[in-house]
Amino acid sequence: MLVKLLISLTLLGGAFGQKNSTGGLVVLNDSFYLTTVNVINRANGTGEGYVLRYSFNGTLLDRVQIGGRAQLPAYHAGGLDTDGTYLYVPLAEYHSGAACGAVPNCTLPGTSYIYLVTPDLKEVKLLFTAPDHVGGLTLSGCDTNVIDGNTWGSRTFYRWSLPDGKLLGKVKNQNYMFEYQDCKALTSCSVQVCSGIKNFQYQRRRDGLVGDQTVSVVGNSTGNIAFQSGGLALVDPVTGIAITQVPVPAILTPLGNGLTINPMWVTNSFNGTTGFRFLFAPDDVKGSVVVVKPRTP
Ligand SMILES: *[C@@H]1O[C@H](CO)[C@@H](O)[C@H](O)[C@H]1NC(C)=O
Ligand SMILES: *[C@@H]1O[C@H](CO)[C@@H](O)[C@H](O)[C@H]1NC(C)=O
Ligand SMILES: *[C@@H]1O[C@H](CO)[C@@H](O)[C@H](O)[C@H]1NC(C)=O
Ligand SMILES: *[C@@H]1O[C@H](CO)[C@@H](O)[C@H](O)[C@H]1NC(C)=O
Ligand SMILES: *[C@@H]1O[C@H](CO)[C@@H](O)[C@H](O)[C@H]1NC(C)=O
Ligand SMILES: *[C@@H]1O[C@H](CO)[C@@H](O)[C@H](O)[C@H]1NC(C)=O
Ligand SMILES: *[C@@H]1O[C@H](CO)[C@@H](O)[C@H](O)[C@H]1NC(C)=O
Repeated sequence: MLVKLLISLTLLGGAFGQKNSTGGLVVLNDSFYLTTVNVINRANGTGEGYVLRYSFNGTLLDRVQIGGRAQLPAYHAGGLDTDGTYLYVPLAEYHSGAACGAVPNCTLPGTSYIYLVTPDLKEVKLLFTAPDHVGGLTLSGCDTNVIDGNTWGSRTFYRWSLPDGKLLGKVKNQNYMFEYQDCKALTSCSVQVCSGIKNFQYQRRRDGLVGDQTVSVVGNSTGNIAFQSGGLALVDPVTGIAITQVPVPAILTPLGNGLTINPMWVTNSFNGTTGFRFLFAPDDVKGSVVVVKPRTP
C-alpha cells in the first residue's frame, strides 16, 4: 500500500480538556468532520462529545458539543456518517456495556442518543435513542430509510428505520479476528467495509516462552508483550457475517498507532481527484488524517 501522510490535525485542547480521542471521520465537500471525546472523569460519568469541522489544511472551522448535562453519562461521540446533507452522530455512555462501576445514572448495556447535525454544525437535533452502546453509525448504501449501528467492539449490529429509530434488526457479530471500530457503506446494499484492531497481551514466562496469561510474571509487571493486529473487513450488516477480512500491515502513525485503531472513511473521490482511497484518523490528542491509496496490481 502506498501511504501518504496527508496532514496533521491538532485536536483542540483548552476547553476540550484533558483527553481528546477521535471517534469518527467523515469527508464532506471540502471538510473533514471528526468526532472527539473529552473524558473529564470516567469514574463519575462526566465528559463531553464534540463534532469538529476542519479544512483540508488542518484549520479548525467549526465545532459543536453534542449532548450535554442532561445526557450524562453519555458523552462518547462515536463513528458518524453523512448522507451528503446531514451528519448522523451517535453519543453513547463510555463503557462496554458489561459494568457500570459507580457511575451515576449509568445503564446496561447503555443508552445512546442519535443526533442529526447540519454540516455547518449550527443545528443539532436528537433523532432517537437506543438502549445499547452505539459506537458507530453507518447509512445504508441503497436505502435512505434505514441506518445501521454497531456497539462497543462491534459485538452487535443494529438496524433502525429513519427518521424514527424503530428497531428493524439486531444480530450478534460472529467474527472475532479483530474488533471493528468504524464501518462505512459501499454502493452495495448488503456490504459495509469495517476497519478495526485487536490488542493482545502476553506475559513473559519463566521458561522464556510467551503466552499463557495464568503463568506468573518474572518479578516485573511491566514485562508484558503487547501486540496489535488489525485490518479491514467486508461485513453484511444484516447477518453480521464478514464476507472477507484482510490484515492491514503494521504501518505506524507518528504516535505509534496502527492505522485502523480509530475512525475510517472510504471514498472514490477526494480533493478533486477520483480513485479509491481510505482515510484514517488513528491518533488521539495530536491527530493526523492519513490517506491510503491501495496499489493497483
Ligand atoms: C488534549 O489536548 C490538549 C491540548 O492539545 C492537551 O494539553 C492535553 O494533554 C490533551 N489530552 C491528553 C490526554 O493528552
Ligand atoms: C457541497 O458542495 C456542493 C457543490 O458546491 C453544494 O451544492 C452543497 O450545498 C455542499 N454541501 C454542503 C453540505 O456543504
Ligand atoms: C465529576 O468529576 C469532575 C472532575 O473530577 C468534577 O469536576 C465534577 O464535579 C464531578 N461531577 C459529579 C457529578 O460528581
Ligand atoms: C488538494 O489538492 C490541492 C491541489 O492539487 C493540493 O495542493 C492539496 O495539497 C490537496 N490537499 C489535500 C488535503 O489532499
Ligand atoms: C486553510 O483553509 C481555510 C479554509 O479553506 C482557509 O481560509 C485558510 O486560509 C487556509 N489556511 C492556510 C494556512 O492555508
Ligand atoms: C441522574 O439523573 C437524574 C434524573 O434525570 C438527575 O436529576 C441527576 O442530576 C442525574 N445525576 C447526575 C450525577 O448526573
Ligand atoms: C521490567 O521489564 C521491562 C521490559 O522488559 C524492562 O525494561 C525493565 O528494566 C524491567 N524492570 C525491572 C525492575 O526488572
